Amino acid sequence: MGQFSIAVIAGDGAGCEVMPEALRVVDCVAKLDYRRFDWGSEYYLRHGRMMPEDALETLEEFDAILLGAIGHPQIADHVTLNGLLLPIRRGFDQYANVRPAFLYPGVASPLANPGAIDLVVVRENTEGEYAQVGGFLHSGQPEEVAIQSGVFTRRGIERVVRYAFDLARRRDKKRRVTSITKSNAQGFSMVLWDRVFAEVAAEFPDISTESLLVDAAAMNFVRRPASFDVVVGSNLFADILSDLSAILTGSIGLAASANLNPARKHPSMFEPVHGSAPDIAGRGIVNPLAMILSASMMLDHLGLANEARAIEHAVAAVLAEGRCRTADLGGASSTREVAAAVIEKLGR
Ligand code: IPM
Ligand code: MN
Repeated sequence: MGQFSIAVIAGDGAGCEVMPEALRVVDCVAKLDYRRFDWGSEYYLRHGRMMPEDALETLEEFDAILLGAIGHPQIADHVTLNGLLLPIRRGFDQYANVRPAFLYPGVASPLANPGAIDLVVVRENTEGEYAQVGGFLHSGQPEEVAIQSGVFTRRGIERVVRYAFDLARRRDKKRRVTSITKSNAQGFSMVLWDRVFAEVAAEFPDISTESLLVDAAAMNFVRRPASFDVVVGSNLFADILSDLSAILTGSIGLAASANLNPARKHPSMFEPVHGSAPDIAGRGIVNPLAMILSASMMLDHLGLANEARAIEHAVAAVLAEGRCRTADLGGASSTREVAAAVIEKLGR
């Protein structure tokens, strides 16, 4: 019996290639029990849904969920994603989506002078612009209307902002939280966000704060990325900024993420920021490091901090050496070779 039971959903495309490699790496440092679920787009093509109706009840019993990627060239993205990824994030109230961006020594940033980038985007993950509240009127007619509402609640904002401040304290680096809004244009939801942010900030006098409009934040991510510590934003804004922070630190193939239920009432889910990458999937060349680092975030969440650090150090060592890397980082190594290099660094 392993120490924890993990639900493994490799999903689609690149997810199926990086998942086995991440498990091989985790097996070097911890003994976990895995149960694999074949949910995703192939399952959809057979059953007409991305996962069974009682999927959340099934997943509820696990200590954590590892997810590869979801997305299929023949199925609309809003079908695949609203059929699996988003219902798990919302259903398990995984309200803090944590996305670190660290510029590893030996990895090139597209910026000329990136400095030492070490930031974490904390994204609200259960409401906001992704709430899926709205509808179509006069579908298919010339006068067709679509309404998509953003939903911002005081409770929803407060808890994710609080998570961001706690994280800035725990990281103990720059001890700074940046809040992202667009309250100059969106005078209700984002004004509420600004107000709640200021209220929570008052409880953390040891943490400095900054509020940026999302457009200015995009500019400043490029201009002074090393100045950021913890950055907190809504579902959509932080989605966009976390792709930006990923590429500023070399590749989205390195970007890991955790969908956390900090209260631990439900399992949390760990997944790379990248998608199923149908353009390069199936050729054995996808970078497995984002998946491997996501698995190490899972170990951390499970209380296996030393094991998590061991994986991070092994990844950092492989990147610093620069001999073995996938094409996204300018190398020619395969998915499997990169994972094997990490395993070698772990001394296995
Ligand atoms: C991500 C992805 C998803 C999101 C998509 C695939 C729905 O871009 O995890 O960042 O926007 O949340
Ligand atoms: Mn995204």
